[in-house]
Amino acid sequence: MSRRIYNFSAGPAVLPVEVLEKAQSEMLSINGIGMGVMEISHRSKHFEPILEGAIGGIRELLGVPENYKILFLQGGASLQFSMIPLNFLGKNETADYIITGAWGKKALKEAKRCGDANVIFSTANENFKSVPTQEELNFSQNANYVHYTSNETIEGVEFKYDLDGTGIPVVCDASSNILSKPIDVEKHALIYAGAQKNIGPSGVTLVIIRDDLLERVPAGQHSMLDYRALAEHNSMLNTPNTWGIYIINLVCEHIKKHGGLVEMEKKNEEKAKVLYNAIDASDGFYRGHAEKSARSLMNVTFRLPSEDLEKRFVSEATAQGLDGLKGHRSVGGIRASIYNAFPKQGVEKLVELVKEFAQENG
Ligand SMILES: Cc1ncc(COP(=O)(O)O)c(C=O)c1O
Repeated sequence: MSRRIYNFSAGPAVLPVEVLEKAQSEMLSINGIGMGVMEISHRSKHFEPILEGAIGGIRELLGVPENYKILFLQGGASLQFSMIPLNFLGKNETADYIITGAWGKKALKEAKRCGDANVIFSTANENFKSVPTQEELNFSQNANYVHYTSNETIEGVEFKYDLDGTGIPVVCDASSNILSKPIDVEKHALIYAGAQKNIGPSGVTLVIIRDDLLERVPAGQHSMLDYRALAEHNSMLNTPNTWGIYIINLVCEHIKKHGGLVEMEKKNEEKAKVLYNAIDASDGFYRGHAEKSARSLMNVTFRLPSEDLEKRFVSEATAQGLDGLKGHRSVGGIRASIYNAFPKQGVEKLVELVKEFAQENG
């Protein structure tokens, strides 16, 4: 096997080596059937337990109650930006949006095409460094739903609590922190997440949707945009991403074997802490982007004194086998994405570089 490097990519992102090895070993023939997962029908008896395994794995890990359906859809988390308002926001209706970063803004743009998408809280003016407290939020009385992004991947700001809609259905884009810690699913009506960070490969989107929302899907909806039809067909209205679902099943098994979400959270907290501590101990050489109370455990974002130093930092990192640290083009700086599968040793290696680089250039 060729050498693996430390991959700080924001997504698609590092997957557990055990999962990749298992997939490799089953590539040509799964369960001795003489065919690989990518070659078998989604309606075959061979694929059925894989789909049910992935649904069961997500249900068990997140504690999803029985009155929610678990779907594996296509079109990325980005299609959910449209599907949600297309199903739940009519022309003269209102939905509330909380904007704490670039992805929330994109969700809002699509919702505005359908109805009155109302921004009830935005941190745009302060360049997306924080999240509101529950007490700071005032929902519209007539809102069909309230939408928030539990972790903004680009800016590295994360909600530390599950939003309470106080009666209004809560919709959450959890693309970049799903499965990183336990959450209270019951506070939500719909949770969605592109798989390519903590759950599996790109091309498959997890949707967890409460049954009463399915009843609200308008009649005559296009079939592939219709949550109710997709749920009734157990995500197989068309050919699903069978390979993606297979990997999700393996990732769920892997997380269960390694202590579930409580253990994931513990490890994620440890990893993020050493990195944030190094940033804070640098006498201002490094400046964290997010306010301390909203610091993401998944995407650690920080700046150096100049863009030139940032470029040099990234190239030194790359030379040391630390890949993918360049911040998103819209915000610049450095972004270290340290999802569930990212090893602690990789964070420690980055911390060494953080310290050395500040000493040499501070
Ligand atoms: C928080 C968040 N939402 C949505 C998206 C868009 O996901 P996709 O590329 O699957 O459409 C991303 C992608 O990185 C994301 O981080």
